[in-house]
Amino acid sequence: MSDLGFTNGASHWHHDAVFYQVYVRGFKDSSRDGSGDLRGLIEKLDYIQSLGVSCLWLMPIVRSPLRDDGYDVSDFLDIDPSIGSLADFQQLTDAAHQRDLRVITDLVISHTSDQHAWFQEARQGPESPYFHYYVWSDRDDRFPEARVIFADTEHSNWAWDHKTKRYYWHRFFSHQPDLNYDHPPVQEAILDVMRFWLDLGIDGFRVDAVPYLFEREGTNCENLPETHAFCKRMRRLIDMEYPGRILLAEANQWPDDLLPYFGEGDEFHMAFNFPLMPRLFLALRREDSRPLIDGIENLPAIPHDCQWATFLRNHDELTLEMVTDADRDYLYSEYARDPRMKLNFGIRRRLAPLLDHDQRRIQLLYSLLFSLPGAPVIYYGDEIGMGDNIYLGDRNGVRTPMQWSDERNAGFSSADPSMLYQPVIADPLVHYQAVNVEAQLRSPASLLHWLRHQLRLRRSQPLLSRGDIRFLQVTNRSVVAFTRSHRDAIGLFVHNLSAAVQPVHLELAAYAGLRPSQFGGNHGFPVITTEPYFLNLAPYEPLWFLLEPV
Ligand code: GLC
Repeated sequence: MSDLGFTNGASHWHHDAVFYQVYVRGFKDSSRDGSGDLRGLIEKLDYIQSLGVSCLWLMPIVRSPLRDDGYDVSDFLDIDPSIGSLADFQQLTDAAHQRDLRVITDLVISHTSDQHAWFQEARQGPESPYFHYYVWSDRDDRFPEARVIFADTEHSNWAWDHKTKRYYWHRFFSHQPDLNYDHPPVQEAILDVMRFWLDLGIDGFRVDAVPYLFEREGTNCENLPETHAFCKRMRRLIDMEYPGRILLAEANQWPDDLLPYFGEGDEFHMAFNFPLMPRLFLALRREDSRPLIDGIENLPAIPHDCQWATFLRNHDELTLEMVTDADRDYLYSEYARDPRMKLNFGIRRRLAPLLDHDQRRIQLLYSLLFSLPGAPVIYYGDEIGMGDNIYLGDRNGVRTPMQWSDERNAGFSSADPSMLYQPVIADPLVHYQAVNVEAQLRSPASLLHWLRHQLRLRRSQPLLSRGDIRFLQVTNRSVVAFTRSHRDAIGLFVHNLSAAVQPVHLELAAYAGLRPSQFGGNHGFPVITTEPYFLNLAPYEPLWFLLEPV
């Protein structure tokens, strides 16, 4: 059994969690129809466990016409038949729990598909009991300050419904009408959806698109007090009825607007660290620690029981909304040289191609992700450095089939290759015959082996998930150095952001008398004195030390 007290329903598990984000459709096909499914995922649980992660995040698994990969829900209370059944889901959660893996899924609360029965009913007109489940208007100029999020596809947040002869409100695709949270039955219905999945034994939710629940004239319709009030209701439900389960917020916002989603420890347990993510890519490309240090230092402390979810990539474009215009231009010019790589306000690429498939840089960013505060989230396929396909539309190029082996369809499916929901990556540079789990398991120097090892080291020391952080003053800006401390344990983490060897003098006088020993046990380093401590770092080298008494 895990040392995190899984079986006694320990709360606070989210502090130490490492998440693995799974796109079920793209993970493993057990039914030979060319599309991944829950039974396929069950087959691969041993693999997921072997990574050393502790919680799966499943992208939407509920019924959907799949025009936005399940983020367009047509029935909240059933599994989409293309990936399985409720019985399969039950088996999956049981099988995961047996392996000490928790399971959370996406909960899409801000909108439904236009195919959802509520919307179809609502279209009968104002007499319908469901009419007020959505936001209607005779005009399409209300709430003009609300930005259009999918700017490459949509021109307005209003769409015309010819049946009711009215406009309806949508923050994402026009086939995703927004729910009307001013209508109390909507709030009750969503709370019941939560109960349904929590009763099935799920460990929490990644709550999708949280900031947009309410609309108020004269505002940008994001982060409104009413939205926070509903989020607190969700949290009360968890605390009263399902203690130990968690809520993780997707709120792509600046720190001042993001922080309130933690409330005073009475709203979300976790929130994605959107401001930090692009700053890691900035720091690496500029070979400059400043954006990274600013990214952490500009985030005020969060309530004691809360935790950040940190990530490098996910299923969406690498969003650049939370950086200045100048930084966004820089990131576009460095990471999206082909215009095809851009989407909305971001870059639709996977981790490895963003970093030119340079294993040193990939490891460097992961090392930062695993040593900075927060619970890391790993996107499926990025643990083997999978490539992407910018010739597929929308965000599909980062959702191609998982590459298991060099067999047909990368071992993802034994269906006819032309039946696959999307082609496997066949770019010669990162062809699935070379980049796959089986090959990397055979090679001790692979990214996969390194990542598993690094996660083992992380698990060995609670300071990595719970420790305070303090940046050290370093004159060489290509090097970032910080300590993490928790109880009596002190860790020192030094990363070379540059492509060249870098010398660095660290001010460690406060730790004089202690000896840095590398995680995993190398004791050959000199004892710290009151003099500056000298280190030489190889290009892109990450160093993890424990500071131990001699
Ligand atoms: C979130 C999801 C994204 C989806 C959107 C609309 O941002 O991450 O994939 O398209 O919500 O539901």
